[in-house]
Amino acid sequence: MTAEEMLSKIIDGSPIPSFVIDEQHKVTHWNTAVESLSNIKHQEIIGTKDQWRSFYLEARPCMADLIVDRASASEIERFYQGKCRKSQVIDDAYEAEDFFPHLGENGKWLHFTASPIKDKRGEIIGAIETLQDISEQVKAHESRRFYLQKVLAAQEEERKRIACDLHDDTAQSLLLLIRRLDTLIYSNRAKIPRSTEEELSKLVSLAMEIHSGIKRYAQELRPAILDDLGLIAALEWMYDKLITEQGIHIEAEIDIVGEDLSREAQLVLFRIAQEAITNIKKHAEASKVVIKLKSEKHKMHMVISDNGKGFYVPVQLGTMASSGKLGIIGMQERVQLLGGTLNIQSRSGEGTSVIVEIPLEKWPAPP
Ligand SMILES: Nc1ncnc2c1ncn2[C@@H]1O[C@H](COP(=O)(O)OP(=O)(O)OP(=O)(O)O)[C@@H](O)[C@H]1O
Ligand SMILES: [Mg+2]
Repeated sequence: MTAEEMLSKIIDGSPIPSFVIDEQHKVTHWNTAVESLSNIKHQEIIGTKDQWRSFYLEARPCMADLIVDRASASEIERFYQGKCRKSQVIDDAYEAEDFFPHLGENGKWLHFTASPIKDKRGEIIGAIETLQDISEQVKAHESRRFYLQKVLAAQEEERKRIACDLHDDTAQSLLLLIRRLDTLIYSNRAKIPRSTEEELSKLVSLAMEIHSGIKRYAQELRPAILDDLGLIAALEWMYDKLITEQGIHIEAEIDIVGEDLSREAQLVLFRIAQEAITNIKKHAEASKVVIKLKSEKHKMHMVISDNGKGFYVPVQLGTMASSGKLGIIGMQERVQLLGGTLNIQSRSGEGTSVIVEIPLEKWPAPP
């Protein structure tokens, strides 16, 4: 069997939809699996340059064509904006995920990889493209996202309601109590013993402390500043508080180009920063915190680092839930909701960094 026949057998026998093109972009192999994915038989396509027909309504290069043309990373990016990356496992290969509205009845999500085929001298003589239908995964991901979104939205609503109740009812009632105590002291000054007056004044001070504690708590539950002025102002408010209340030195590096963050993403980043800072106050014994927020081409990057005592981070963050520690898991769930990643780097005695990356556009809604 020649090498060519062997390659045909391997490709045809593969359950993974695959096709091969040569240096002139002509289809040389089109396996059974890609026939059923694209609804185009190999007899119709082998020897043509019509590979695009399976995926697009108008002629344009497929990923394999770009590989054969030795396209640069930026040229490939131009065709698959924000949806492609260099393969981690195969040299000079690229992979991407995209929605193809004309495939199947309602369109399909595909994950596809195109790799160069090289001759002995390392020259590209063709490319192989493999495709994987990930529509079910995307659907499952979307329904999980939908469910989590509902849960988190309900949690935010509940926080807002409690914050309002605390502010409008509890704090107001306490103010009333303070006024009535004040009036009682003032109007009975001549009649009550000095020790009772002092005791009553102490109660007034205590009630005032409780009043400002409740107001602070209500504000932390749902900082109005986030709704009114957005993420940066809310973060500034949070770290100003950290400086005044805890005396911790803060460095903030904020570098955001065009604020195209959705309200949902702003809320997620704010809640993560809030938990990270609560953890620093509670556990880190730090004297310095650095907060970085940076927008890159397709993602938002947030890092909160402290110089505190650090801790051992389990490989599976989920295991912390069994000991009732829910803060970091909550951060992770919120990040996953937006298709992002959470990475916690910490070593005993060397501080902690919470690193969050959120894509600015992931899984765009099918048209
Ligand atoms: N910045 C930090 N410095 C040192 N230790 C930390 C830091 N952040 C987290 N930890 C450690 O990680 C553990 C888990 O944090 P997590 O936020 O999940 O739970 P928690 O703060 O203990 O409780 P909860 O957030 O549910 O009220 C903490 O108990 C603490 O030991
Ligand atoms: Mg915590």
